[in-house]
Amino acid sequence: MPRRARRPSGAGTGDPIRRAPTKVWEGRLGAATARRVEEYTESLSFDRRLFADDIEGSLAHARMLRETGLLTAGQHRAIAAGLRAVRRELELGEFADAPADEDIHTAVERRLHELIGPDAGRLHTARSRNDQVATDLRLWCRRRVMDLALGCAGLQEALIARARDHRLTPLPGYTHTQRAQVVSLAHHLLAYVEMLERDVERLLETHRRCDVLPLGSGALAGTTLPIDRDLTRRALRFAALSANSLDAVSDRDFAVELTFACALLMVHLSRLAEELVLWTTAEFGFAELPDAYATGSSLMPQKKNADVCELARARAGRVTGDLVTLLSVLKGLPLAYDRDLQEDKQPLFDAVDTAEASLAVLTEVVAQVSFDTRAMRRAASDPMLLATDVAEHLVTRGLPFREAHLLVGRVVRECVASRRTLADLSLAEWRRHSRLFDEEVLGLFELDGALRRRELPGGPGPRAVSRALARAARRAARTREHVASLGA
Ligand code: ARG
Repeated sequence: MPRRARRPSGAGTGDPIRRAPTKVWEGRLGAATARRVEEYTESLSFDRRLFADDIEGSLAHARMLRETGLLTAGQHRAIAAGLRAVRRELELGEFADAPADEDIHTAVERRLHELIGPDAGRLHTARSRNDQVATDLRLWCRRRVMDLALGCAGLQEALIARARDHRLTPLPGYTHTQRAQVVSLAHHLLAYVEMLERDVERLLETHRRCDVLPLGSGALAGTTLPIDRDLTRRALRFAALSANSLDAVSDRDFAVELTFACALLMVHLSRLAEELVLWTTAEFGFAELPDAYATGSSLMPQKKNADVCELARARAGRVTGDLVTLLSVLKGLPLAYDRDLQEDKQPLFDAVDTAEASLAVLTEVVAQVSFDTRAMRRAASDPMLLATDVAEHLVTRGLPFREAHLLVGRVVRECVASRRTLADLSLAEWRRHSRLFDEEVLGLFELDGALRRRELPGGPGPRAVSRALARAARRAARTREHVASLGA
């Protein structure tokens, strides 16, 4: 009985439904949805941001329906104009939610019905929210992937610009956070450029994975209506059509991959951020943040803190959590669509937003941080950092490396005990340890020479770094061209 009472006027009689149904599925259920259920199941609060993609998808779908004769030209005109009007309302923040709007898809359809009447009900022909939301999400990811790739290129360019001035700035390279060997500041900065290059590759690969159109898969089993999936594909500029309707509505691999790309990108950014935290300590003193990019203390007047870097470091943890959340949502889901899939959005959105914001702020920090190259040179001037070079000096004179290592280790131990350093030893002292030493050993402790001995490809030698810089700049430019060609 209540079921009958809730039927919209005309339903079941063949007459058109004159008002928008409160729920798209209200024909089936006899009672109004409980308030708590509405609150618990809604996704409009977080999927509203898909509106532009939702409407783009609907416009393409409607055009295909017209071209296949499932809509008349007049119906199509009304629907397309209505969709554009809804889009304008959403863009201007003038869109009024209705209490029963479940998600962005039903909200747009409800509003379309209010604007153009019953013809709105024809838009969902041969479509389910299941293939609709999968399409929206792919469009959204495809766009954001390109923004992220551009963000990576921007940070690369900032690192490259700083590195250009520092091919000859010696810096201690570290292992185990202990000074290890001499590198240059340029070489150190270029290490992050390489990480970011792999991030770019991963993002562009993700773009390819997003570039598949699920629309036409219906709820799970396609449709009996004579649609043309390829028309929609071309309108939305997807590279391919999904090959299996069950997979198409339940596949979120592209979202996982994008979230993973963001998580690893954030891990890279957290390492850069951590180094900036370390370098700006009094203990290191290698860098100083511009005041506009530092923060103070509410209590200690003297403090200048690197909160931006600390937050980037922490947010790598949050995005890692997003990835685990998403994988956990998908794990064990039976085919095809399950409502669990609605939970893909918050972790995905958070991962992408966080990565993009972190890239943007760290790009500015890198561009503006000041380096204390004298402090770096001082730290790199410890002759112990060249102990390996001494061992290699012996190797070139015929000693097996293991023996050279032991021998130089003993020299280092003696120096430490007598509070001297390797550069203090005379040739006679060196030759007491091995007759293989010649006067060249005395010249090993000059820093510029130490860098120039390292000109192998991929090494910190100034000429090798020049080549690396040129290549890195070309790759960043290529990323920008590539993204432009993908239609960002
Ligand atoms: N809000 C839903 C989601 O994000 C849309 C699809 C709903 N489909 C359904 N059969 N209830 O996944």
